[in-house]
Amino acid sequence: MSVSRRPLHTTSPEQTADAGRQLGARLAAERPHGAVVLLVGPLGAGKTVLAKGIARGLGIEEPVSSPTYTIISEYRSGAVLLHHVDLYRIESREQLENLGLEDLLAGTGYVLVEWGEKIQDWLAAPRAAGHLRVTLALAADGGRDIVVEEVAA
Ligand SMILES: Nc1ncnc2c1ncn2[C@@H]1O[C@H](COP(=O)(O)OP(=O)(O)O)[C@@H](O)[C@H]1O
Ligand SMILES: [Mg+2]
Repeated sequence: MSVSRRPLHTTSPEQTADAGRQLGARLAAERPHGAVVLLVGPLGAGKTVLAKGIARGLGIEEPVSSPTYTIISEYRSGAVLLHHVDLYRIESREQLENLGLEDLLAGTGYVLVEWGEKIQDWLAAPRAAGHLRVTLALAADGGRDIVVEEVAA
């Protein structure tokens, strides 16, 4: 998958959602069996907005909500399976291990993880497949800078 080294700059929530839609469509075309996407950035960076766009780009029509309280939400559309995970409230290794994330990460389908840096160590394990890391930052003009990187297994 081609990745952007230079940040993609968005100046509105709609543009962030649109960037997500484009990424989701690329994932559907280039990684039809699924992918793990870590969404990294501070509170308010646009991770959920981007995740909603990615879901749309993957063909999920059902509205995607913020999974902050449920931690893991599951969506299906035809053959597409998506898990949207929000680790905001996860504070310890033990809480993380109780989520059953390993099964999701080892299985097929797409997994979008907000606060993805909290599982970066796991994904660095030799068994873990390559994943994408999307870093979102607040830009000086009030918009967002978004970088997509491919992280090798
Ligand atoms: N490019 C942008 N410019 C301005 N506001 C944006 C942009 N992208 C997203 N937002 C806004 O940022 C806010 C936080 O987005 P959200 O996805 O909830 O963040 P996070 O999940 O990272 O905490 C929302 O109000 C959203 O509309
Ligand atoms: Mg969020």
